[in-house]
Amino acid sequence: MKSKSTDFGYQKIAPEDKTRRVSEVFRSVASNYDLMNDLMSFGAHRFWKRQAVYLSGIKKGQSVLDVAGGTGDLSILFHRRVGKEGSVLVTDINSAMLQEGRNKFLDEGIISGIDFVQANAEVLPFVNNSFDCISIAFGLRNVTDKQKAISSMFEKLRYGGCLIILEFSKVKLSTLERLYDAFSFNVIPKIGKFVAKDEASYQYLVESIRMHPDQDTLKGMLETAGFSRVEYFNLAGGIVAIHRAYKL
Ligand SMILES: C[S@@+](CC[C@H](N)C(=O)[O-])C[C@H]1O[C@@H](n2cnc3c(N)ncnc32)[C@H](O)[C@@H]1O
Repeated sequence: MKSKSTDFGYQKIAPEDKTRRVSEVFRSVASNYDLMNDLMSFGAHRFWKRQAVYLSGIKKGQSVLDVAGGTGDLSILFHRRVGKEGSVLVTDINSAMLQEGRNKFLDEGIISGIDFVQANAEVLPFVNNSFDCISIAFGLRNVTDKQKAISSMFEKLRYGGCLIILEFSKVKLSTLERLYDAFSFNVIPKIGKFVAKDEASYQYLVESIRMHPDQDTLKGMLETAGFSRVEYFNLAGGIVAIHRAYKL
């Protein structure tokens, strides 16, 4: 029987091919990933990530699972918040991205309170009900079965715990949307071409953003998985949104 298709940017492909294609994208961009983030967002991603960690309400001594954690930006911020008494587990499907993250932690002199595990967000290999906070930043839109990943994160969160999703979303102002589209489609793939020597991956990036569920659709998906008190916060006019949800 033929499997249902899924999106890979604007292309329709078999779900079993998406995970592999996404993996190729991030293997290719890993070494330039942080530089490209700064160039593409004019540094704004740093503020968005700080805001995500702030909204999590995470406290000293707590445990965090950073899903699709990549090069570890969010995890470093969480690590500073939970301190030595707490723990941060960075997980990502891609070993090249995790390796970049591990190097960044070492460069910062952080050697304890942090662990790295290669895993697929759809089937997180951890004990149920075990984390005070789970985060996924700019990761969910790359996952093949997003609802499955949301349910997997729900399972692993402890009761009372908080999920934070930081992701590109639907721009709320039409003028801003036109400017943003022009920049995304005309400039970002070119920056990718000249800096990361990889135009196709950045073309995928801008297309995948448009295919991602909008703020209210994602809120509905979180509620379907069992999350409570689901709300979202638009940043930069909705270019990015932070969803916060609790397991109660
Ligand atoms: C855009 S990067 C975000 C990295 C980091 N969280 C950040 O905010 O900079 C997306 C990450 O999602 C990871 N990813 C994609 N599909 C995944 C999956 N099914 N499970 C876990 N990680 C996945 C990629 O390997 C990549 O590291």
